[in-house]
Amino acid sequence: MDEITEEMCLARPIFNADGKILLSNGVKLNATYLARLKALGYENLYVYRDGEEIRDFSIPISDQTMREALQGVKASFSKASQEQQLNVRQVNDVVNYILDEILTNPSVLYNLMDLKNHDNYYYQHSVNVCVISTLIGKKLGLARDRMKDLTTGALLHDLGMVCVDPRTLAQPRRLSDEEAASVREHTNYGFRLIKSERDLSILVAHVAYQHHERMDGSGYPKGIAGDDLHLYGRIVGVADSYETMTTGRIYRKALWSHEAIRQLKAEAPEKYDPEVVAAMETSIAYYPVGSVVVLNTHEEAVVVDVNAKKITIQFSSGPRINALMDLAPDSPVKIEERLS
Ligand SMILES: [Fe+2]
Repeated sequence: MDEITEEMCLARPIFNADGKILLSNGVKLNATYLARLKALGYENLYVYRDGEEIRDFSIPISDQTMREALQGVKASFSKASQEQQLNVRQVNDVVNYILDEILTNPSVLYNLMDLKNHDNYYYQHSVNVCVISTLIGKKLGLARDRMKDLTTGALLHDLGMVCVDPRTLAQPRRLSDEEAASVREHTNYGFRLIKSERDLSILVAHVAYQHHERMDGSGYPKGIAGDDLHLYGRIVGVADSYETMTTGRIYRKALWSHEAIRQLKAEAPEKYDPEVVAAMETSIAYYPVGSVVVLNTHEEAVVVDVNAKKITIQFSSGPRINALMDLAPDSPVKIEERLS
């Protein structure tokens, strides 16, 4: 956000908490927009300079599906908090869209930087964790009919947050022990809310229950360990931790993708299932689109596209400035460091 000026235009749409488009692609940013976006808590935006050619890049789910997913999660959270019920049909529709897109896109990676704000935090977090979990399930070779419960559980994993005092969740600081204990109850609340929906599998409720459990039994609410921790609980646990680590809070700096993956690997097998972490590592872009990097040739470049086979960069310094280059794993040019 600090580097964005009024000359720039949005390259990705911005959704509000209702999943509606707040600002669409191509909008020229002015001082009012920038002030509003800062107040909403955005830390990153995708932009291009006015007149600059805008390139499309492959994303795991389309803007339309992202919008439907945000709307579906928000509707479910509201209904759960008011009526202790979910709109299962809407949830199923969203899950099917996400599965359709991710399963038919052969080499797509999770490659977007965090675009959450204060208002849509839990909805965007839920959809991101859902997309990452689905990519992990795909990498592990799960069949589509088995993926449905995983994707649904991932989308609803934090549903129980609707039963936690919103004043506690809004605290811009580290929580006291008592407050943290009240937040930990969200796993129990989520389990109960989902279990009472006859049209959802009990496995979906268990995913919400288990996503903070860890392989060595150090998690909560029950301290489930090892094989007793369901594969889907392990997957959503890894996806949730990754998503949380790469999001900044006032009291904690966001990690970059490659740092978060390194940390998860360091905590496997004690906390996380190494097979799940390995599947995630190959489903996530180390350098998401928009990353500014230094190459082994000492030139600087911006990542403009990435998939499982190659990274496309555009030079931003040196004699090749503005030129594009594809970096395959065996390419002599390599990324050495990420600058921003
Ligand atoms: Fe959670």
